[in-house]
Amino acid sequence: MARIIPIEPDEDAAIDAATTILAKARPVAIPTETVYGLAADATDPAAIARIYETKGRPRFNPLICHMADLAMAERHAIFDPLSRKLAERFWPGPLTLVLPLKTESTIHPLATAGLDTVGIRVPKGFAGELIRAFDRPLAAPSANSSGRISPTTAQHVEADLGDRIDLIIDGGPCPVGVESTILKVESGRIRLLRPGGVPVEAIEEATGLDVERPKVNGTAAIEAPGMLASHYAPNASVRLDAKSVAPGEALIRFGNQPVEGMDQAVAVFDLSVSSDLAEAAANLFGLLKRADHTRANGIAVTPVPDHGLGEAINDRLKRAAAPRNA
Ligand code: TXA
Ligand code: MG
Repeated sequence: MARIIPIEPDEDAAIDAATTILAKARPVAIPTETVYGLAADATDPAAIARIYETKGRPRFNPLICHMADLAMAERHAIFDPLSRKLAERFWPGPLTLVLPLKTESTIHPLATAGLDTVGIRVPKGFAGELIRAFDRPLAAPSANSSGRISPTTAQHVEADLGDRIDLIIDGGPCPVGVESTILKVESGRIRLLRPGGVPVEAIEEATGLDVERPKVNGTAAIEAPGMLASHYAPNASVRLDAKSVAPGEALIRFGNQPVEGMDQAVAVFDLSVSSDLAEAAANLFGLLKRADHTRANGIAVTPVPDHGLGEAINDRLKRAAAPRNA
């Protein structure tokens, strides 16, 4: 079983324990502000292979490479002026930029799935400190088996991967709760590859530019293959925009309006009683897991507004509700 080491009260001890495992080309589960990541040395093919193996993930899926800061990122990728502006404004934070890889980058092609681009993010807090101490970029997908719901607590990671990894660093619940927003700048235009922890509105406000949304079933889905349908799948079927609950279903609510049939629900969970989208994002994956554990025959979810962080929440809910074909 994995050892679980808390960040508090001794962050240096947690960093030492993590770097010791990382130096052996083994992955470590670490907290980030978005979700827990399964991190390994992005320059070492054996380490990256163990991420794919641990997750049971298809190898063609590129991983996000996490850096300590913009200076480290610039050693691996080419920044156009707009990408640099976005990095300066939103790093450290829940933003991933897809950028051309520098030829001298030491990131191994297994981390980028052989693409000539790399997804880079500078995380806040412990993850950033760990990368600084290890002094190499860390490839880190979410710390869950492929196709499962992303973990937002150390306990989620333990329940899923605890018998396959050496170490989980416990930083408590992730404050953002949904994965990073992924952007790609092309000819001065900003394309959204995945909605996430930085709302599109904040990007548009910071740049004065419109962000181009992915086309449904279009090219963006291929460029971010981790975002194919049915990616965040609980066992129970998920029903969206529910106005009522059927007997045998669990209910996940947004806001505190009563829902028809609520008293017959197997269980009722609240994303945010006060209709706060940031609170709802932070609660989303944990509540999907809890609703799933009730063994309800379905999970009904009431509508969530589609602005701000609601866009990322609705994206993940749609994937949770998508037909299972993988
Ligand atoms: O918040 C997050 O981003 C979390 C935490 C751990 O940092 N990480 C995460 O990584 O969600 P992952 O591997 O689950 O998602 C990576 C996504 C995938 O959809 C992948 O296809 C896309 O990023 N991606 C990575 N590199 C890319 C590239 N060069 N071009 C296009 N998409 C890329
Ligand atoms: Mg994931």
